[in-house]
Amino acid sequence: MAKYRIGLGVTGGIAAYKAVEVLRLLQKADCDVSVAMTRHATEFVQPLTFRALTDKHVIVDDYDPENPDPIAHINFSQEIDLLLIVPATANIIGKFANGVADDFLSSTYLATTAMVMVAPAMNTTMWEQPATQRNVTQLKADGVYFVEPVAGELACKTVGTGKLEDVENIVRQALALVGELGSRGVGETNTHDLRSEHFLITVGGTREAIDPVRFISNHSSGKMGFAVAEAAATRGAKVTVVAGVTTVEPPANVNVIRAVSAEDMHTAVKGEIANATVFVGAAAVADYAPANAADAKIKKDGRDVMTLELKKTPDILSEVSKNRRDGMLVVGFAAETNDVVGYARSKIEKKGLDLVVANDITKAGAGFNTDTNIATILTRSGGEIELPLMSKREMADRILDEIVRLRKG
Ligand code: CTP
Repeated sequence: MAKYRIGLGVTGGIAAYKAVEVLRLLQKADCDVSVAMTRHATEFVQPLTFRALTDKHVIVDDYDPENPDPIAHINFSQEIDLLLIVPATANIIGKFANGVADDFLSSTYLATTAMVMVAPAMNTTMWEQPATQRNVTQLKADGVYFVEPVAGELACKTVGTGKLEDVENIVRQALALVGELGSRGVGETNTHDLRSEHFLITVGGTREAIDPVRFISNHSSGKMGFAVAEAAATRGAKVTVVAGVTTVEPPANVNVIRAVSAEDMHTAVKGEIANATVFVGAAAVADYAPANAADAKIKKDGRDVMTLELKKTPDILSEVSKNRRDGMLVVGFAAETNDVVGYARSKIEKKGLDLVVANDITKAGAGFNTDTNIATILTRSGGEIELPLMSKREMADRILDEIVRLRKG
């Protein structure tokens, strides 16, 4: 029996021919692939190509007299683990985002309970169009995974973002989503153990304005928080990230809201928290911000010493914990330079946390801007798990393992 059942939806763009390669790679990875095409896609690639490779009828139209299944959009949609759209046009993204079901593929999207992954490809202007971006944001909020288009030379001879991601990468991400390449490795069963969770994660540093040209900030890169976001999404969770200032790009397939200051981050978190089942405070939020940011650039005015008055920022983690709904888990981070475990444990009490990830940022290989970390996970019930030097991505999975354990009680 095939490992995974994939519904490959092909829509009408010049990159449609690359869907053939995606099909082949999925088959090589032991997936059973069924193909659906939009009418426009058939202008670019013949359904016969996919039929020959899959040995199955390729559905374009529910009402086609040759269609062997009279309610194909229901049956097709129920018999797959993943609906993968390669390439996705602005049109299909718009239809999915707005619940339009006027052909086989858009009806299948509405009828499926499988995960959905979309790999867009289109002209840069079409991709960047506010209408397209609105639809993408909506779909991400609806739990659709995206393999973002990349920059490069496009079929229209322009250079910009809108090129289909490499087929190998699309297949890798699709397989990771259905579990094949999940961080647990092939054959393990817990890759979708977070499917019923919605993570809200703060990531990166904040920037607190002194005047229009200066600010107070910190060295946070966002790497650890993004690693947790990516790992949670790979394990089936819906993930929303509120990202402050970061030096790395967010992972694909998570919904990202940008925030600059602690105040912005607080507002964004309040706006999203109602949907969350797990909150992770991975951001290095400034504890204090200038009490009165100047509207105009501050001049030296001959001063040798100057004093900046700071006021406390909202403690987002404590606020979330204080107002949490039943069943919500709250996870914090503690970056310390001494008495790491002691300080971290006191944070569990002070901030009402279920779990805290403590790291000694003075250790080589731990802390800001590195790709690795060394930490201790502390739980409310007294648990203490030492995590030796490992990649932040691997550590993210170890943290998620503890969250799953807490959930099971
Ligand atoms: N945090 C937050 N909002 C703040 C400050 C911190 O959400 N305004 C969160 C961080 O995301 C992290 C945890 O709280 O999860 C860090 O705890 P905290 O005690 O504030 O860390 P420090 O700033 O290092 O505290 P202290 O200086 O008291 O050690």
